Amino acid sequence: MDRNLALELVRVTEAAALSCGRWVGKGDKIAADDAATEAMRRTLDSMEISGTVVIGEGEMDEAPMLYIGEKLGRGNGQEVDIAVDPLEGTNICAKGLNGSIATIALAPRGGFLHAPDMYMEKIAVGPTARGAIDINESPTVNLQRVADAKKCYIEDLTVVILDRPRHDKIVDEIRQAGARIHLITDGDVAPAIAAAVEGSGVDMLLGIGGAPEGVLAAAALKCMGGDMQGRLVFMNDEERERAKGMGIDDFEYQCNEMANGDVVFAATGVTSGELLRGTRYYSGGAETHSIVMRSKTRTIRFVEARHTFDYKPKY
Ligand code: FBP
Repeated sequence: MDRNLALELVRVTEAAALSCGRWVGKGDKIAADDAATEAMRRTLDSMEISGTVVIGEGEMDEAPMLYIGEKLGRGNGQEVDIAVDPLEGTNICAKGLNGSIATIALAPRGGFLHAPDMYMEKIAVGPTARGAIDINESPTVNLQRVADAKKCYIEDLTVVILDRPRHDKIVDEIRQAGARIHLITDGDVAPAIAAAVEGSGVDMLLGIGGAPEGVLAAAALKCMGGDMQGRLVFMNDEERERAKGMGIDDFEYQCNEMANGDVVFAATGVTSGELLRGTRYYSGGAETHSIVMRSKTRTIRFVEARHTFDYKPKY
């Protein structure tokens, strides 16, 4: 993977964040998502890649842009698979709440799990707790192992989990075990990444969220030396059959099985969260805050950018 591609990717997520950033708090998640998608596609298409979307906005008949299978880039560069979520946390953005991001990852062909649009049970931690987690163990066992790996008490750990009735039981168990909990309304990619950032205040992500979002989180954690495991959750027999029809017969994945090879990842904050600050606009321009990284070198860059609208498209 050309190392400059990583830096190019920041331009893609910045463009998406600047576009949907105008929709923060306006109560229209579809318009916000459309703005991010359009900007991301336009910027991706200007890149010297021969890309194919494998995690995107949906199947071809459901999404006009960034659909699964769509070819992107000038077509004369490296062959890459693309995983995108132009606006991760559409509701958060529409309500002006914390933690929405624009995000993308690239891998060599075949590097990403072609995750169906279904649920995935996830457990994610940073590099210090790498190897300590096991999705088949209870939250209590995993908390103890992570605490041991981090040389702290369970009480020192903060676990992020989506605030959903399906998580009531594990929330009770985590509380019983003594860890702190941060319940979030939406957007479980950014907290999974935050678990790998020293000083973010997040130690672990647990619970069931979207499978495509799981692949993006795995791509980021691979770049950071963190760890993640995922297991597809079928809501009914139709979903199980659909997964089988897609050639998926293994339902449990290690980080490397979701994102493999020389992966590059970028995300830009739309609204502020534990990981990134949101877009801010001022007279004549705007500011963005992004993270960009490569699994090959594990270099993690935080990029603060000031965009001057007189010299580039006015977002
Ligand atoms: P959108 O950006 O598509 O709105 O998804 C946000 C999200 O919260 C993900 O971060 C998460 O994985 C998933 O939705 C959870 O799904 P659900 O809202 O059905 O519990």
